[in-house]
Amino acid sequence: MSQLPITGIRACVFDAYGTLFDYASAAAHCRDVLGDKFDRLVTLWRDKQLQYTWLRAVQGKHADFWQVTGDALDYALETLAIGDHALRARLMNLYLTLDAFPEVPDTLKRLKQMGLKTAILSNGSPAMLEAAVNNAQINVLLDEILSVQEVGVFKPDPKVYQLAVDRLAIDAKGILFLSSNAWDAYAASAFGMRVAWCNRYGQRAERLPGKPDYEVKSLAEIPALITT
Ligand code: LAC
Repeated sequence: MSQLPITGIRACVFDAYGTLFDYASAAAHCRDVLGDKFDRLVTLWRDKQLQYTWLRAVQGKHADFWQVTGDALDYALETLAIGDHALRARLMNLYLTLDAFPEVPDTLKRLKQMGLKTAILSNGSPAMLEAAVNNAQINVLLDEILSVQEVGVFKPDPKVYQLAVDRLAIDAKGILFLSSNAWDAYAASAFGMRVAWCNRYGQRAERLPGKPDYEVKSLAEIPALITT
């Protein structure tokens, strides 16, 4: 992967969960109740949530990401023998106010100052994304908040990446897509976008179509890589 300057882009488009917002922060605020089940709940909830999006996409049975997130949580809680209804409600509520990663506001500010458009492209439903963006107070730093709900299918269906091209009116090569979800980064690359994989979780490279152009550990590295 090259770390040459990124040139010729007009917009930075961000994945939401895991990239801008820390999905583990919901459970982190319930550590008191979760105790030693914390790590397993975070992993199982996220893994099931993603699996359900992929399976629903293949089946042509789309559902709101809020429902998928709740279904995945129910599966995870049952697996871990946690039958606490109040905790379920608390975790779902916290999913609406996930912490943004610390570098997010400043990175968006710097990209805007460089004259770039900024957007979110996410599986999240419009209501979920709006809640997270408002909570993190980054609404003024984003030009578009794009939800897969508009195309009725989850990532990595190419229709999702096309939505960003259409709504920003910028061709795929003029968009830098940023995701910490490797499979999402590879899919955006296979679609034709320029891609920076924010490898926060120290994962290995995927064996999938596409190849991210850049790999960073934090979004804070991005502005310095871009030459406008
Ligand atoms: C999203 C998931 C993939 O925000 O993190 O689309």
